[in-house]
Amino acid sequence: MQIIRDIATLHRAVDALKQGRKSVALVPTMGALHEGHLSLVRMAKRVADHVVVSIFVNPTQFGPNEDYAAYPRDEAKDAALLVEEGVALLWAPDVGVMYPAGHSTHIEVAELGADYCGAARPGHFDGVATVVAKLFNQVRPDIAIFGEKDWQQLAIIRRMARDLDFALDILGAPIARDKDGLALSSRNAYLSAAERKAATAFPNALKAAAKAIVGGADVADALAKAEADIVKGGFDSVDYVALADADSLERLTEFSEPARLLAAARIGKTRLIDNLAVG
Ligand code: PAF
Repeated sequence: MQIIRDIATLHRAVDALKQGRKSVALVPTMGALHEGHLSLVRMAKRVADHVVVSIFVNPTQFGPNEDYAAYPRDEAKDAALLVEEGVALLWAPDVGVMYPAGHSTHIEVAELGADYCGAARPGHFDGVATVVAKLFNQVRPDIAIFGEKDWQQLAIIRRMARDLDFALDILGAPIARDKDGLALSSRNAYLSAAERKAATAFPNALKAAAKAIVGGADVADALAKAEADIVKGGFDSVDYVALADADSLERLTEFSEPARLLAAARIGKTRLIDNLAVG
């Protein structure tokens, strides 16, 4: 596997991969790879001839009081996992390559980024959209794959690709979960043993709410019960539990398909997100 850190070498390497009309799939990540990321890599291998993974902890998507400095980083371990998966190329630029001195252009995400995580993390999705657009321009993949765990992020990236005419296919990969149902996330590494045990209350509450809503329960009641169950289960606070149109992300007060439960909650120092198809 080639590990590349500058754009000129990256362009040459991707051109070489594409020779003979071969396709390239990109899996953008911030590293600290776990089974969830590896499931994206495996999907990429199924749909394209070559897989490029990027690892870049993107400072512009972290707020001033968020965990940019503490975000787990272990490139050697990540690279070993990617070699085992047969990845062709790891794109691992430094901050100075991604955002050279004087960098002053960014993408602004309008209504899709305003609610849910966007409300709790102002500027987050502008940072995500900007870096993902740059990754698309740098790697020029035929396909890019993102996890469905970040459902709002996936919707925003699809919309950005459409709005800005990126010529590539964007695929969502199903959420990978631990045996007890907790969605895999690099941030699960922050949880103490007790918090990790309690964290299962989060997916359980969402599952129960989805079942109740499909069964005809009042949506507001089901969401309020899910919030209460998450806090009862040991979480300190709930940022939001919402029923949304799965595509437009508009909040739904009554169940209609396609619908998705979207949620974020805080336990100790950790903010977890999750989502679930309803119906
Ligand atoms: O989902 C992530 O890991 C990040 O938001 C992404 C898409 C790699 C952009 O930095």
